[in-house]
Parts: sequence; structure tokens; C-alpha cells
Amino acid sequence: MDSLHLPPLRSASGCVRLPGSKSISNRMLLLAALAQGTTEIRDLLDSDDTRVMLAALQKVGVGVTAMGSNAWRVEGSGGVFPVKDADLFMGNAGTAIRPLTAALALSGGHYRLSGVPRMHERPIGDLVDGLLQIGADIRYTGTSGFPPLAIHPARVKLAAPVRLRGDVSSQFLTALLMALPLTGEAVVIEMTTELISRPYIEITLNLMARFGVQVEREGWQRFTIAAGQGYRSPGVLHVEGDASAASYFLAAGAIGGGPVRVEGVGRDSIQGDVRFAEALEAMGARIEWGEQHIEARAPVSGKLQAFDLDLNHIPDAAMTLAVAALFADGRCLLRNIGSWRVKETDRIAAMAAELRKLDATVEEGADFIAVTPAPTLVPNCAIDTYDDHRMAMCFALVALGGVSVTINDPACVNKTFPDYFDALAEITAPVIAIDGPSASGKGTVAERVAAALGYHYLDSGSLYRLTALAALRAGLALNDEAGVAALAAGLPASFSGGRILLANDDVTDAIRTEEISVGASKVAALPAVRAALLARQRAYRRFPGLVADGRDMGSVVFPAAGAKVFLTASAQARAERRYKQLIAKGMPANMHALLQDLQERDARDAQRSVAPLRHCDDADLVDTTEMNIEAAVAAVMTIVQRSPL
Ligand code: DC
Repeated sequence: MDSLHLPPLRSASGCVRLPGSKSISNRMLLLAALAQGTTEIRDLLDSDDTRVMLAALQKVGVGVTAMGSNAWRVEGSGGVFPVKDADLFMGNAGTAIRPLTAALALSGGHYRLSGVPRMHERPIGDLVDGLLQIGADIRYTGTSGFPPLAIHPARVKLAAPVRLRGDVSSQFLTALLMALPLTGEAVVIEMTTELISRPYIEITLNLMARFGVQVEREGWQRFTIAAGQGYRSPGVLHVEGDASAASYFLAAGAIGGGPVRVEGVGRDSIQGDVRFAEALEAMGARIEWGEQHIEARAPVSGKLQAFDLDLNHIPDAAMTLAVAALFADGRCLLRNIGSWRVKETDRIAAMAAELRKLDATVEEGADFIAVTPAPTLVPNCAIDTYDDHRMAMCFALVALGGVSVTINDPACVNKTFPDYFDALAEITAPVIAIDGPSASGKGTVAERVAAALGYHYLDSGSLYRLTALAALRAGLALNDEAGVAALAAGLPASFSGGRILLANDDVTDAIRTEEISVGASKVAALPAVRAALLARQRAYRRFPGLVADGRDMGSVVFPAAGAKVFLTASAQARAERRYKQLIAKGMPANMHALLQDLQERDARDAQRSVAPLRHCDDADLVDTTEMNIEAAVAAVMTIVQRSPL
């Protein structure tokens, strides 16, 4: 897809489970590869940049095995890499090429490292200078100071401290720190400049310590690694959620009302980017910290405030602030962000160009950007993303200003967050919830409303029906709560072209029998089954919007739905409709039995302890007893049109 058109969005609320941190994933992979012993890494990020690292490690002879669910087993090489000659393609992954260059330089082999054209414009000279001081043999095969590189065996000499610049990228220090224990000797690194992006060094030191190597730090000036230290596997490790990725959702909560909760990082995170939440707080947003989550809401006043902040400690998440500035009440100054110039693109230039498309006044300098928002955002802007995942991710937030926006080359998010737009949709896409009793016509009405708006459609009842069918086929008792819930959690259901499949079996008609209707109502009364189906239902919330029908769409599954309708009809009218449907299909039908069945199901759905069927106060009532389908659709459309979707 060349571009993604986002609809105007009015609000954001909900919960996002973050993918694993890129910074932690790639560091852990390398440390595990260099360590003695086998490491199991759980919740590893699955993205372009981690694939680059995994592929490179495999190529140099490290055993890496996928264990499923983003867990990987890494057989440590216990020091240097076994394969002594390799060509390695690094894509545009800075977190892969920098540390690998250092580790390969000490591995006693011949390696050639290259990347995409932009990678060949991203500096690596300071790192190479540092490595040359300890006897590394690294040559530039393109432009001096930049990849591609050719690496040959080093003649290691460690007498003097390694002198290193730290003002272009902190990754050079990270790379040296992680590689130097391979020498087994005492080493000192001295910074010759100010060190930027310091929290990333804290991540590095923290993870090295988990693999058994201690670094003594004197301020941010001098780092000492004592002799005789080597990496040892700590066994099993978990990757925290990505704090940089959290910034988009937290900002969405601050801009779009909230609350938006990110799960996977919290107050004890080792990632500096969690401090982004404090920057949002400086804009007036309300932030709540948990051990494993952070939650953001809009300011009490409703309006975000202008800011003047030094953001050197959170360079990546700071991009999100530049876009949040569009929603502030004045000029916002982002200072000390010179490293933006040498990232995936020149981020200061890119940010300025794209913000100007939205009519913001932008001042830019070598290491700052100032953004003064226009009173209104320009609708229908096409935002260029410069092959930079963060440009795509932060500019998607523009839609929360109630304007549509087009993101060009949205697939660039694959670098760190392949499912980003789905996750964003799950907290922002408009939802119309239509609840009501059986045979009220809500399914037909919901489907037509969805078609009229071009929205997605969720028939949540079919998930309960599928669960009942699958349970009966598996020979499970319908009151076996744990068994049925486990089945619901892994239900192999798919919907395509109006047909419903269970694994490869077309069950569109099979789930509509009276037996399954009764069964569905029984399994739906089990709390564990409802819990098992919750995430699956929420995943239907996609752009440009969703119409969902069921019993608890407005009360439980999508409590923040922009429009909520309770669609009902008298039991007599509903039984008559069902009767006519069956007769039309040439099936036997008995009016009395149908009415009794319906009333029993209504009673069970309304009396169960969890998510009972009821007309919530915030839902508009549509009684279709006297209406045909067209009138019912028109009544719902009227409600939708006056709702704040
Ligand atoms: O809407 P339907 O008749 O297809 O639903 C089948 C059963 O599933 C119904 O008895 C109630 C239950 N259900 C539910 O409890 N919650 C929903 N959101 C949807 C259906």
C-alpha cells in the first residue's frame, strides 16, 4: 500500500499491549550471542530491525531458534563468533550495525557490513576511530566515516584508555561497551565530548550487568571494565514493552481525551523514553504510573499547554511531542535534539517540512525545532514519511484533530512496529455499538449501517455461536467453563465474503440452528468465555470505523463507543419475524415454541451475572416493533449522524 488514509478521529481511549522494546531486543540478542550458555528471550520485538540482527547472528554461526509467541532461544558462542567470513546486510538498523561492528572487529574474522542507501549516510566514524585505537582493522569501502565497512582480524592492544566522541550517537559507546569484555582485559573508555542520549547507555549497562559484566562509571566521562569479566547467560529474560512506541498512544490519550493505557512498561522501566510521560505532564496531561502500565488523559482544562523542554534524554519519543505541539496553546520549543539530524532521516528537516503542511509555523536550527500551531489543522494533508517509522507513527496523531490525514508509505512502521496502525485503530477508530435481544433485527440493521458508512462489521453473537458449536463438536459439556473458555480463546474462526468458517469448515448455516442458539446463550453466561473473547472482539475496531452488534458492545466491549443504540422489539413481534424467516426458507416453524424459546433466551441473557443484556442509560432506544428494516436503519442512522463519532 502506497498510502494510508486515516479518517477524522474525535477521541482516543482504551488499552494497548506494547510490542517489545527495539533497544532492549537487539542488545539482548547480541549479549546472548556473545555469552556462555543458552538464553531464552521472551517477548522479543518482531520487526525489521530485530530480523536484521537475528539474520546477522545466524550468518556468523550463532544458533538462534524461534520458540513461538516471540520467544527465541540463543545458543551463546561464549565469546567470538564461530563463522570467520561473512557478508552482512544491516538494512537501516542502527541498533544492529553499530554493536555488531564492534563485536565483529574483535571476532578474528573477515566481515563485510552494508545497508540500505540511508544507512550509508549515517555516521559510524566515531565508533571506528574508537575501535582503531585498540588495534581493530576496519576499512571504509564507500565513503570515509560511513558504512559499508570491511572488517579484518584485530591485533588487540589495550594499554591506553579508548578515547571516544559521544555527541553524535550514544550507540557508539553502547557498541564499544558491549564488545570490549570480549578481550577479557581491563579497559577504560574516556569520552572526549558531551555524551548525548544518556538513558540509552543506562539500558546498555543494565543489560550487561544481567549477563554478568559490571562497568564502573564515573559520571558520563569515564567507563571502566575490569579484567576477566565475560558474559554468562542469565537463563530466561523478558523484553519490556517499547517505551518509544508507548509515546504515540500516551499522546493519543492526552490529545483525544483518554484514558489510554499502555501495558508492558511502567514506573520501573529501564528505558529512558518512559520519561516522555513527564513531558506530556508538562503539557498538562494527566498521567498515572503503574508497575507495568502508564495511562494518559487530556488535561482537566481540555487544552494542552505550550512547552520549552530540553529533550536530549528522549530523542526518539521527542518526535511525538513535535506533533503533539499541533494541539498546544502556543509555541512549543524542543531543544537539544541535534541527533535527529543523523537518524533514519534528517528528522529536524523532515519534521519541519511536514508540520508546515499543516499550517504550523516552524523554526528549525542545528539542534532545535520550535512549533507554533495554527488555529485549525489543514484537512486531507498527505504526509511524507522519509522511510522513517517514527514520522509515520507520530503524524498519524494528526487525525485526532478531527481532520483526515494521509500517511504515505505507511509500511515503514515495519521497522519497529508492524501492527502500529491496527493498535492505533483499537483506541481511536469510531465505534457504533448496537445491542439488543435476540431477533430484534440488530444484525441486519448493523450490517446495513456498516455498509452505508463503509465501516467494518462485527456480529459478536456469531463468536458465541461458534464457541458453542466448537464445544459440542469437541464433546465438551456447555457448562465446562475452563474447557469452553480455552476453546474460545483459540477459536479457529474466520469470516470472509459473508461466509463463516470454523477451521476450513463453512458453518454459516450450522451456527443458526435452534440448538446452537440455545447453546450460545449458555456459553455466553460463563465469565471465562466472555473474557476469552474480549480481545478478539476489540481487534475488530479498525479504520475507518466499526459497527458492532451484540448484548454488551456498548457496556463492556466498547464502553467508549461514539454511538450506542439499544435496538429492541416486543417478544411477540420478534417471534413473528423469526417465524416468517423460517417459513420463507421452507423450514418447519411453530409460533408458540418460537415465542417461548425467545423468552427463555432473553431471560438467560438478562439474568446472567456478567454483562447481562440491558438497556444502558447512555444508549439510545430504538423500538422496532412497528418498524420495517428500512425504518429501523433510518432511525439508527439519525442517531449516528448526531453522535460525536
Ligand atoms: O445475537 P445472537 O442471537 O447471534 O447471539 C447468540 C447468543 O450469544 C445470545 O444468546 C447471547 C450471546 N451474546 C452475548 O452474550 N453477547 C454478545 N455480545 C453477543 C451475543
